[in-house]
Amino acid sequence: MAETPRNSRSQAYRRLSLAEKHDKFVNRYSRRTLFRVGAVSGAALAAGGVLLPGSAAASPGPTVLLNADKVAGSALRPFGRHIAYGADPSQQVVVSWQVPAAVTAPFVRIGTVPGDFSPPIPAEVRALTSQMSWQHPVEEVPPNSPKSITQYYLHARIDRLLPNTTYYYVVGHEGYDPAARLGEMASFRTAPAPGGDGTFSFTAFGDQGVGYNAVATSSLIAGLDPAFHLAMGDLSYALEGEGGHPEEDKYDARLWDSFFVQNEPVTAGIPWMMALGNHEMEGWYSADGYGGVRARFTMPDNAWNGSTCIYSWRYQNVGLISLDGNDVCYNSPSNLDYTKGKQLTWLGRTLAAFRADPTIDFIVVYCHQCTYSTCHSNGAELGAQKDWAPLFDKYQVDLVLNGHNHIYERTDPIRAGKAVKKVPSRGTTDPVKDGTTYITAGGGGGSVSEFPAPDTYLGHETANDTPVPMKYSERDGQDRTKKVTWSRVRFRGYSLVSVGVIAGTGTTPPKMDVRAISADGTLVDQIIVQRS
Ligand SMILES: [Fe+2]
Repeated sequence: MAETPRNSRSQAYRRLSLAEKHDKFVNRYSRRTLFRVGAVSGAALAAGGVLLPGSAAASPGPTVLLNADKVAGSALRPFGRHIAYGADPSQQVVVSWQVPAAVTAPFVRIGTVPGDFSPPIPAEVRALTSQMSWQHPVEEVPPNSPKSITQYYLHARIDRLLPNTTYYYVVGHEGYDPAARLGEMASFRTAPAPGGDGTFSFTAFGDQGVGYNAVATSSLIAGLDPAFHLAMGDLSYALEGEGGHPEEDKYDARLWDSFFVQNEPVTAGIPWMMALGNHEMEGWYSADGYGGVRARFTMPDNAWNGSTCIYSWRYQNVGLISLDGNDVCYNSPSNLDYTKGKQLTWLGRTLAAFRADPTIDFIVVYCHQCTYSTCHSNGAELGAQKDWAPLFDKYQVDLVLNGHNHIYERTDPIRAGKAVKKVPSRGTTDPVKDGTTYITAGGGGGSVSEFPAPDTYLGHETANDTPVPMKYSERDGQDRTKKVTWSRVRFRGYSLVSVGVIAGTGTTPPKMDVRAISADGTLVDQIIVQRS
């Protein structure tokens, strides 16, 4: 799970953009057989009685017909269900899943009473074909294995749901309707209408991977039963190496199957909202490397027409923003500046709108790369410090969450690159006066990295009064270090962040109770974020 050392690649190749590397790669193979990404959608069907009044139950999507069925639908079972919210989680949910071969007329059926389901709501099919010639399977492949594999991802966008309502659902296709099999039923809950300051919680981690440590952190989410989970990049590690180097990165597309099945007990019922990591730069599929992600996930993607996993949304009184750190990453520059400034412009505009909205109390930004971290594995990201941090300061972002370094680290509140005050575990920070708190939560399960200083966390605090070296890359790729004082909590272990958003009382404003919890359930950090 470690990143590929830089000296394993030629510097000339490294300086190419991912779009150039993708072109170079495509030219080595037949454009016709390299990959295909297809999509199917059907006309919206009514889901009588369980939707808000309106014209469409399912959002339209692109239409590309699949090949003819080779396997009877009755012989195929859906797997790897995962759900996500739309930009309005009180009304919009996307149900996604996979089938092992092409199916006809895939659907989701929903209802507010278990077993009493709507007519089928059609799903869009995104078929993703990957050549074996550019893969390195992690499991033994038999000699009669095909030259390529095709993964069939299904996505049903459901709009006009009732707020604050539990829905039950099943997924199926022609020849297989599990409506009577309650064991195959899952459920999700829509958010209350936006603007209220009711109490709820969410969790976050990055860098999960596939394996028993990943199962442990996923199970921890289930136990906490949050309203949603933020999956902050480097999800499956189907792509080993740094990402963004299609001729050098090792890859096994089917690890994504394992990833989705591993997490299905949680993701079938709790929306996972994802951000892009460097391991999602799968340069085989598209010039930006995100063709695979676009087949596998459906995020709100409302930053601009064609943005991938860059989006804003809100859950009650919290405004949430997902950013693509690859766009500002000096340390791993394959997609550096690929949005040509669009992401930065959109970020400024979105932060301004959120902060001007009196019904939004907190702004939480999540992404993969670390704006501020002292872990030397991937270091801190100078591009994020230069481009994003001034906007986080200007609009008093309350919390920035990320992964990338495989540890837990919390900063003191930072403004203009400097710590404003010490906030130990059990302390309180006021983002209006103190600045933004940055948390790296990269202990999702992939592996554990090192700090240049001893761990210091709840119940195991050290004096921690000596500046710690922060490693970072300049834009030209030169690595440097700088001593910093804001590294307040460091924990090497599998873990996640759980944020409890607590309603105000009339005399006290709302607050966020931010906790870090290790894979065995131990509390390793806790702070209160409360704005004056
Ligand atoms: Fe990463």
